[in-house]
Parts: sequence; structure tokens; C-alpha cells
Amino acid sequence: MTRQSIFITGAASGIGKATALQFHARGWFVGATDVDAQGLSKLADELDHDCFTAELDVTDKTAFDAVMADFSALTDHRLDILFNNAGIAVFGFLDEVPFEKVIATVNVNLIGVLNGIHAGIELLKQTPNALCFTTSSSAASFGTPGMAAYGATKVAVKGLTEAMSVELARFGARAADVSPGIIDTPLWQNGERFVRGEHRPIRNLPELNRDRTDAGRTVSASAVAESVWAAYQGDRLHWYVPPEVVERDRAKALDPERLRDELIAQQKK
Ligand SMILES: NC(=O)c1ccc[n+]([C@@H]2O[C@H](COP(=O)([O-])OP(=O)(O)OC[C@H]3O[C@@H](n4cnc5c(N)ncnc54)[C@H](O)[C@@H]3O)[C@@H](O)[C@H]2O)c1
Repeated sequence: MTRQSIFITGAASGIGKATALQFHARGWFVGATDVDAQGLSKLADELDHDCFTAELDVTDKTAFDAVMADFSALTDHRLDILFNNAGIAVFGFLDEVPFEKVIATVNVNLIGVLNGIHAGIELLKQTPNALCFTTSSSAASFGTPGMAAYGATKVAVKGLTEAMSVELARFGARAADVSPGIIDTPLWQNGERFVRGEHRPIRNLPELNRDRTDAGRTVSASAVAESVWAAYQGDRLHWYVPPEVVERDRAKALDPERLRDELIAQQKK
């Protein structure tokens, strides 16, 4: 196959879906995977069935290997971008979230990414200029109170990117990630929040932050999809959407205790 190809996890919704639509519009062959079979079928309709779709739970390594093999057979073993994007968000103080939800967050957001890299690495190695791309989060800038496990997984995937960017260079392949801020996607309806172990509705931050103009402003999923495209053309390791999200990384690097103390003071209000 001469057509360039992208394999996306969490492609039935939000950022993954916006990325599938954008790359397809640019003529790429899209491999769209998700646990949401109905969402995938809707996406396939939108792409005129000119794509590969497969139901895939990223926590299942055996299934990941099998789906990657099916995709590989269709692309003549070419994989230009592996986009490990699937993620779940669980909100609440660590001591108030059921522990199985904490572990589920780690399994999807971190183990799922490791599964994806391991399943796709041989294809990345043999595709010239391939990119291993992962969705991190602004929650990785400073460990996020109220989303401790989520933030930790997102820090971890940035570390993975850094290591893989060096390891993959042995084969002329690359690694990068994106840290989105507040993105208007169904995550804000699908995520779970717990207070003292009880389910509670999530604060819909994309709705609440609509009038903000700072790094916490509401941004579209397609803006994040654009960063996948920019990363493929570019050389940067860490991307931020909106770009001001990087400022908190810098503030932490300069003075982490100050940031900690500000957050403790905010919490007391
Ligand atoms: N929306 C935001 O504000 C925001 C901000 C920063 C980072 N992110 C990250 O962006 C990524 C995409 O999220 P989104 O905002 O598009 O949310 P979304 O809920 O719209 O999409 C996530 C998709 O992942 C799928 N998914 C969940 N568990 C899965 C599993 N085990 N295996 C395969 N697929 C699974 C869901 O079915 C869904 O289609 C996530 O990694 C999320 O953590 C989102």
C-alpha cells in the first residue's frame, strides 16, 4: 500500500474520532479501534467505509496483537502513525475513589499505551519516518489533585514518549505526545466522579470554561487532531493544546513547592 496509514485507539469519540476524520480527509488510510462498537460503526459510515474498524479493548494485549495483525495485512505492514489515544477519567480524591476504579484508570491509560506500543512497534520500525504518538494531558503538568491516578498515568506516558523517542531513533522512527487542556468531548459526560465512594455528576468543565481565555479555556477536539498532524510534520516531543498549557510545566520546573502551596491554599477556600 502506498497510502499512509494511522492506527487510532479510542477512535469512536472525541479526539480520536476528530483525528480519524482529519487524516481520512487528507487521504490517509485510517485504522479506527474502540470498545464502543456502535460509535465505530457510525464513524465507518462517515468515512464511507474507506477505513479499518475493530472493536478493541486496549487493556487486552492478545486482542491488541490480533487487531494490529489484521490492520497490518491491509496496509502491507505499513504504520505511519500509531496514535495511542484511548483514555478514561476518574475524578475524586484518591481516598474516596473505589480502588478498582483507580486500577482501571492505570490499566486503560498506561497499560493500554504500553500494549499499543508493543503491538505496533515492529510496524513502526519498518515504516520510514513513522511516529508513535500518545495522548497525555494538562493533568500531567503538576500531579492533579482530584485526579491523582489519572494525572500519574499521563505523566507516565510522557516519560514513555521520551524513552521511545530515543529507542525508536535506532530505526529512523519518532515518538511524541500531546497534552490537551479542557477539550469539548464526551469524556466530560462519560467520566466518573466519586465523593466518599459515592457516584456524583462531573462538573462539565468545557461548558463552565466557555468564556475563559487562559490555558483553561475550552478547545475543540479537532484542534487536538491538528496537533497529531503537526507532530507528524514536526520534530517536537511534547505538544500542548492550547499552547499555553506548557506554562504550568515551566512553573513547576522552576518552583514546584510554590505551585503545591498555591493549590493547597485554593483547596482551603
Ligand atoms: N477531553 C479532555 O478535556 C481531555 C483533556 C486531556 C486529555 N484527554 C485525553 O484524551 C484522550 C481521548 O479522550 P476524549 O476527550 O476524546 O474522550 P472520549 O470519551 O470522547 O473518547 C475516549 C474514547 O476511548 C474509548 N475507550 C475507553 N476505554 C477504552 C478501552 N479500554 N479500550 C479502547 N477504547 C476505550 C471510549 O469508548 C471513547 O470512545 C484520553 O486519553 C483522555 O485522557 C482528554
